[in-house]
Amino acid sequence: MPAPLPVSASVAEKEIAELSTKIHYYNQRYYQDSVSEISDYEFDQLLERLLALEQAFPQLLRPDSPSQRVGGTVTKEFAQVKHRYPMLSLGNTYNEQELLEFDERIRKALGEEPYEYVCEIKFDGVALSLTYRDGVLAQGLTRGDGEQGDDITANLRTIRTLPLRVGGLPGGAREFEVRGEGFMSRAVFDRLNQEITEENERRTQEGKKPLTYLANPRNAASGTFKMQDSAVVARRRMDCYLYDLLGDNLPFATHTEALAALAQLGFQVSPGYELCPDIQAVIAFIKKWEFKRDQLPLDTDGIVIKINRYAQREALGFTSKSPRWAIAYKYKAESATTELLSISYQVGRTGAVTPVANLAPVKLAGTTVKRATLHNANEIARLDLHLGDTVFVEKGGEIIPKITGVDLTKRKPGITHVQFITNCPECGTPLQRRPEEVAFYCPNEKGCPPQIKGRIEHFIGRKAMDIDSLGSKTVELFFDQGWLRTVADLYRLRAEDILGLEGFKDQSTQNILAGIEASKQQPFSRVLFALGIRYVGETVAEKLADFFQDIDQLQRATAEQLTAAPEIGGKIAESVVAWFADPDNQALVAQLRAEGLQMAGGAAKLEALSDKLAGKTFVISGVFKNYEREALKDLIEQHGGKNVGSVSAKTSYLLAGEGLGPSKLEKATKLGVQILSEEEFTAMIG
Ligand code: IVH
Repeated sequence: MPAPLPVSASVAEKEIAELSTKIHYYNQRYYQDSVSEISDYEFDQLLERLLALEQAFPQLLRPDSPSQRVGGTVTKEFAQVKHRYPMLSLGNTYNEQELLEFDERIRKALGEEPYEYVCEIKFDGVALSLTYRDGVLAQGLTRGDGEQGDDITANLRTIRTLPLRVGGLPGGAREFEVRGEGFMSRAVFDRLNQEITEENERRTQEGKKPLTYLANPRNAASGTFKMQDSAVVARRRMDCYLYDLLGDNLPFATHTEALAALAQLGFQVSPGYELCPDIQAVIAFIKKWEFKRDQLPLDTDGIVIKINRYAQREALGFTSKSPRWAIAYKYKAESATTELLSISYQVGRTGAVTPVANLAPVKLAGTTVKRATLHNANEIARLDLHLGDTVFVEKGGEIIPKITGVDLTKRKPGITHVQFITNCPECGTPLQRRPEEVAFYCPNEKGCPPQIKGRIEHFIGRKAMDIDSLGSKTVELFFDQGWLRTVADLYRLRAEDILGLEGFKDQSTQNILAGIEASKQQPFSRVLFALGIRYVGETVAEKLADFFQDIDQLQRATAEQLTAAPEIGGKIAESVVAWFADPDNQALVAQLRAEGLQMAGGAAKLEALSDKLAGKTFVISGVFKNYEREALKDLIEQHGGKNVGSVSAKTSYLLAGEGLGPSKLEKATKLGVQILSEEEFTAMIG
């Protein structure tokens, strides 16, 4: 029988205060001293009583109440709050040489003054800023764009190791800020993905769409901190390591003193940090953690090296984006060894055959890897692969890992050498190699199923005819029925046929046909791109449409006339001439014209949205949470910016997504090109 609730607020207030003090005390003993003074049951009883009182007297709920640990606050939209001190990023180094250069810069700038470094492990999570006012956790923000972040206070209060209330700092500052890295442990991450597996088994049985897995702990942490319901966040047992203390007139002369004070106050300071008297000690620290870091319960991606003395930090100052007194050392892409089980071959739209390695599942940088790209036959030869080999796999910043070598010491005698296939795995046609190209091709363009399906998929794609009522599964199904052999067949699909297939209802059939019908309004430049002529990408198609204005003119053009068009080179010109010379393609154009597709007119222009990015050039790399890559390119152009393919000194920004190409990153860092996160970009275009 629960105790009756008090009738007056003043009695309740007293009980709430007593309960809060008790729970705070037991929490602290548990999370900071690892001691359980009472049983879980007794603890839950106290917490439940507190929750009941706070529910009955909501006016008595205090921001530092231990009840906040279990969440329950629902935030519809996170407020954007400006950081009191901007949250900068760090410059990166990738080898010893670059570290020595960093040390040299410091030595020069500080004259002959002695200095020391502090090395910290760079945990791979989400940067957080926490403000304490009068000893109470008052505000918690994400980094955001560095200038302002999201107010996720309610979610951060669920972190058990983060004190909601602390005693005063020495010097008695009334307000101070603590910074650190919020994260999800690998154990929680694995548990969540396990739950998804179980849920998906149910869904498959019920014929529902499966949920996608969490990509890695870092993304999962960032997603979790931005959840609306803090009770869900609480159940995920998020955690954080603190590495910074900021405030006005704090009484510390060095970073190590500040870290000691943080620990004294009950914060979980980033573990493993060390004071290093010189750069050689820094290098030793880096070596020490290179392999040891794999045993930590969360992902790490490097070491942060900071000058210890605050006065020296001040003297060194900042560049526009990062401090001169600190730098990150990034470890090489993680690598692992596993067994090569077999090789599969994929045939693409253009007929190019790509070998893919099937591997015994192995953990790499937080995910399980089962396949690796092998690029082409040369790569197989270079690696001298044998089935059953023990291979090194690396996540080179790419999404799909690659095989970097073979552990020859583990090669068993008598195993088979991998021979590249000689015939197309799909249609059996002997493969060919074009002069000066490494890839093998299946020349059976018109009869090889993946090539036909690939062309149709390309044709309906978002940047082409944008027929989003069709997907690759449906294309495959219709292809198998024998209804689709060329893209013109799309316009001859019949409702009564589709309705005869299992799972196609009236509405979905209507949608498919309506989508196909609507595509007839797509401008000529898109039709041209959709045809899938080699080297005629989206931009080239626009240039050609603008210049020739209709398909008859284009079809008649010689290679010479084609190269007269802006930005059209010999290779493109030849490919266009060859495409139109093929009688089958001529017939296809005639059929598409008869169906009513747009065969004339210049390129459609994107709607201009602002000139915020005028004069800026962007290189995009990686995968993004909220945007398709093409949509990002459009946005850049709609705001007056320009997209380019590779990083040069003229590039304004490298827009970096998950799995950003390491060579791009390295080049950008070397050339001082600013690296922009997805969030920063969003903020930039407002
Ligand atoms: S210091 C201006 N210390 O790395 C100094 N950062 O690029 C800013 N990080 O956004 C940060 N561990 O999320 C610092 N011990 C550590 C760190 C650390 C991880 C992350 C942090 C920051 C990024 C810097």
